[in-house]
Amino acid sequence: MRSVVSGDVEHPTDASSQRLRPTSPDTITAEVIARLDACEDERLATIMRSLVTFLHGFVREVELTEGEWHDAIRMLTATGQITDERRQEWILWSDALGVSMLVDAIGHPFPEAATESTVLGPFYVPNAPERPYGAHLDEVPAGDPAWIHGRVLSLDGTPIAGAEVDVWQNGDNELYATQDPEAPETHLRGRFTTREDGSFGFIAVRPTAYPIPDDGPVGQMLRATGRHPWRPAHIHVIVRAPGHRSVATHIFDRDSDYVDSDVVFAVKQSLLREFVERSADDPDRPQGIQGDWWSLRSDFVLVRSDDTGELVDPGRTA
Ligand SMILES: [Fe+2]
Repeated sequence: MRSVVSGDVEHPTDASSQRLRPTSPDTITAEVIARLDACEDERLATIMRSLVTFLHGFVREVELTEGEWHDAIRMLTATGQITDERRQEWILWSDALGVSMLVDAIGHPFPEAATESTVLGPFYVPNAPERPYGAHLDEVPAGDPAWIHGRVLSLDGTPIAGAEVDVWQNGDNELYATQDPEAPETHLRGRFTTREDGSFGFIAVRPTAYPIPDDGPVGQMLRATGRHPWRPAHIHVIVRAPGHRSVATHIFDRDSDYVDSDVVFAVKQSLLREFVERSADDPDRPQGIQGDWWSLRSDFVLVRSDDTGELVDPGRTA
């Protein structure tokens, strides 16, 4: 025979029982938000209240099942397990879900004439080798030579001498040096300093489109949702100059596949550039290039600022 139900339950009289309210989809959100009243950090409290509100709203809207919740936990666990000092799956999630570009858009409201920023991406490595005007970026064969040149200007059109143009790109094997065990670490990376007239120039290779690493949870999401993992061909650039706000941006090949469907949503119309086909006997052929080549001109326009907006390296994905 079952024992008599405890008096505590039938007649809740102690303080803890009196505080308890029925848990239902309508009350649980308010309960969690109320628990944040003790948070002394106002910004953190604002973020957490909003996070709980939207997270609970999402669960409510899709009527998340327990099985789906378990799948989500497994996916988050796998994301942590695959992430290490060379692979950053969390940034891939941020990129592939468009959050990186949303944060960039909110944080960098540049004037229209200034060079627009875009995602830093997971392959940036600080302290690339300093290279002179006209030098090669590639240290081993990596594709068709491309003369990349232009000027760094202030918003009012004044050329900026001594600006730093920090460049990194992938080769025709689709890989960055950090991903390629066969390549030197400094391959396809370099920092160039603008001349008195603000000009810079270097010999890159024509970049290829490449897939983001898709053998982890983000790749599973892409396949499950019918998305491809490809980025259109581009060259990464950070431009820094004293008294100006730094800009992390891309030079996109406007003729590349995937320009209209970049997996990380980073393409901006203003960043599209044309690679112009040049022949070996072209009189403008730079020293250091043999055979047929490409050229691409791209100026960078910076906004004057006391705050240079130093970039934080968020980690890499190999
Ligand atoms: Fe890239």
